[in-house]
Amino acid sequence: MESAAEKRVTMDEITALAKRRGFIFPSSEIYGGIGGFYDYGPLGAILKRNVKDAWWRENVEMRDDVVAFDSSIIMNPLVWKASGHVDAFNDLMVDCTQCKHRFRSDHLKDTSKCPDCGTKDALTEPRAFNLMLKTFVGPMEDTAAVAYLRPETAQGIFVNFKNVFQSARKRPPFGIAQIGKSFRNEITPGNFTFRMREFEQAELEYFVPDDGKDLEIFNEWVARRKQWYSDYGVKADRLRFYELTEKERPHYAKAGVDVEYLFPWGWGELESIAHRGTYDLDAHMNLSGKDLRFFDEASKAHYTPLLIESSAGMDRTTLTMLIDAYEKEQSVDPNGKETERVVLRFHPKIAPVQVAVFALARNKPELVERARTIELGLRKRGMRTQYDEGNIGQLYRRQDEIGTPFCIVFDFDSLDDAKVTVRERDSMKQERISIDALNGYLAERL
Ligand code: GAP
Repeated sequence: MESAAEKRVTMDEITALAKRRGFIFPSSEIYGGIGGFYDYGPLGAILKRNVKDAWWRENVEMRDDVVAFDSSIIMNPLVWKASGHVDAFNDLMVDCTQCKHRFRSDHLKDTSKCPDCGTKDALTEPRAFNLMLKTFVGPMEDTAAVAYLRPETAQGIFVNFKNVFQSARKRPPFGIAQIGKSFRNEITPGNFTFRMREFEQAELEYFVPDDGKDLEIFNEWVARRKQWYSDYGVKADRLRFYELTEKERPHYAKAGVDVEYLFPWGWGELESIAHRGTYDLDAHMNLSGKDLRFFDEASKAHYTPLLIESSAGMDRTTLTMLIDAYEKEQSVDPNGKETERVVLRFHPKIAPVQVAVFALARNKPELVERARTIELGLRKRGMRTQYDEGNIGQLYRRQDEIGTPFCIVFDFDSLDDAKVTVRERDSMKQERISIDALNGYLAERL
């Protein structure tokens, strides 16, 4: 593992590529940025959307037993009282009395001196710090107007549980899914988009009857999630499914698995899958006084379903796709010269651009027009395409760096034989394909 890790991409290389090619930028950069916030550029916005679509397709559209949801970011503050976030969504922080820097106490290996300025005995005792971001609703900025930006999307689902099962006419086992922004005032955001203060989660809340099959269903969801990462090409030896011990789980949880990826700095959590029992619905029934139980027609009895939750970070998954796809390799250019090639080996379904079409020469209208027509044709068939022209070697290099699986060149021979050169990103193999057959050829491979 050591030697494989040594050769891997560094975070400096990833952040430089993300900036240079327009994947991710620090937020409000011209004003010096703001810690824990990032913006997605033209390619990054598409990449992240594709990651979210891949999750949505698998967990909602492909299933009869999961319905879609989209709740508001700001909710009645009592939601966060019931969920425990107001009283207990805390991290312990320590301050350095010398340099004034603040740290999460569980991130400190040695508390005898400040890790930033090195002063001995300068750290304060740990104090609880609530991670919820506050705002005010309405024109009065008083305590009655305080509200919170949601720190997870899940609670919007729990408080709507009854609305959903009644309107969608669903009975457990069934799930409710949503993708949306969450906010946490992290003490120490960092590792690029890994730990942010504004981020996106994809959460699936799956409600099951208490009939003894719940652990089986939990394991099925773990297996499905494993399959999803594998389907989108995340390398198996960089992914692990860590089973939480009873001590590591909250008291009410019956099982828990953390999905972790081996980032350049070490293992980091991508997703948590948890069997949460009836804890969340019970909490909301207790505080709201509303009955959120399900009525079972067969037994003519009310019951509170058990909950299996899968909660994945979409920014972390997007970052994983970027890091996992990155490879730097030695290659030989058309003139026989050794060069270094940076290539993102994205799965074709999530690659921001799937097919790039080039005209061999810029100033030849007969080539430009035909190449553009081909590009437009593929775009209309639903492929994500890009048109370009000029130095083919340079264009290939650029498309490799943004992870485009196929490049097509329309050249002078194409005018006579109605064929184009198709170059595949990973093998760099080139084939002459008839223009008529192009759509079928690509559709099969994307
Ligand atoms: N409803 C359960 C829940 O929110 P969590 O483990 O706190 O569980 C789930 O969060 C996922 O959300 C994490 O595995 C991670 O991918 C993502 N996430 C949490 N905090 C994050 C942050 N500060 N920045 C980016 N992603 C974060």
